[in-house]
Amino acid sequence: MKPIDMAEIILTEAEIEAAVRVLRSGALRQGKECHAFEMEFAEKVRAKHAVTSANGTAALHLSYMVFLKPGDEVLVPAFTFIATGSMVTVTGGKPVFCDVNPQTYLIDLADAESKITARSRAIAPVHLFGNACDADAIKAFAAKHNLIIVWDAAQAHGATYKGQDVGCFGNFVCYSFYPSKNMFVGEGGMTCTNDPEYDNKMRFLRTHGQTGQYLHTMLGLNYRMTDMEAAIGREQLKRLDQMLVIRRRNAAWLNEGLAGLPGIQPQEITPNSHHAWHQYCIVVEPKLFGCDRDELARSLKAKGIATGVHYPRGLHQQPIFEELYGTSTLPHTEYLAQNILALPVHHGLSEDQVKRIIEAVRTSRP
Ligand SMILES: Cc1ncc(COP(=O)(O)O)c(C=O)c1O
Repeated sequence: MKPIDMAEIILTEAEIEAAVRVLRSGALRQGKECHAFEMEFAEKVRAKHAVTSANGTAALHLSYMVFLKPGDEVLVPAFTFIATGSMVTVTGGKPVFCDVNPQTYLIDLADAESKITARSRAIAPVHLFGNACDADAIKAFAAKHNLIIVWDAAQAHGATYKGQDVGCFGNFVCYSFYPSKNMFVGEGGMTCTNDPEYDNKMRFLRTHGQTGQYLHTMLGLNYRMTDMEAAIGREQLKRLDQMLVIRRRNAAWLNEGLAGLPGIQPQEITPNSHHAWHQYCIVVEPKLFGCDRDELARSLKAKGIATGVHYPRGLHQQPIFEELYGTSTLPHTEYLAQNILALPVHHGLSEDQVKRIIEAVRTSRP
């Protein structure tokens, strides 16, 4: 039987043609395709502005470069990919790691509240695996503490909260187009904002802070996307909704098929939201299931089903952050890191393959 992978990274003929068209034109650098991608992406998510960049990490970095001052603190959920925290450090700020809700995996605002100081400047909520954060609660929290919000939507293309795409929330909403993501162009990033000044500044920062011909008025980087990637992105944007329908259908089947299985707990979806299902994760409770996450992963592998562990440690447990900021304990993050497992949910799966995954999990129970 054909093995089942964690992602389907296959470009359509139209996407390949769009890339080839750019290659043939010789216009390889950032140009009109990038500009059009920005306009079309912004329109899709209903943001006022969108700025392409080299990757999702650059999208986060550019956001922080706009406003962060040395020593400023940013509240960051500890259960996320390294870049959510590391870009704060790289910009001269300090990520303050917060625990997450063990069911939704999203930032725990009560824990964040306990970590507010006079230096708190921003909060970086992550729509982890495509599960939209409770935007009302986050915006109220940010307003109360006078914080800027840098949303990490690297995994959340198409996620919505109360009918609104997460891309329109401002102040900064950062996306990645890395191949495993819901949209995949190779390397690529996008920052959406509703603030024309942020938009303007990010455009300069992404090109060496150049505000005139060889005139540099701020310190910047080369974080440009190329037109080839943008051309793929423009074409792919047309099928994002269609891919999301399949991811949502697959997630619903997985939820249904795994319901009632002792020791298996899928991610809880934020009320009033539509999950984008970048990953479908379960928490494996070893005592109830009969074996732990790693044993289940091995059993699934033997049955030809790939799985993933996102993430095996919290950011506060990363050696670099322990070295910089000392050790700390965040119980929910650590529990998730030990027990979480991602099952395939991508847009390339057939109904039979989803059934095979469900059956394989059920029969892996000792
Ligand atoms: C939550 C999160 N933030 C940021 C990034 C960084 O994106 P990129 O790999 O495009 O730099 C990723 C990518 O894996 C991510 O998952």
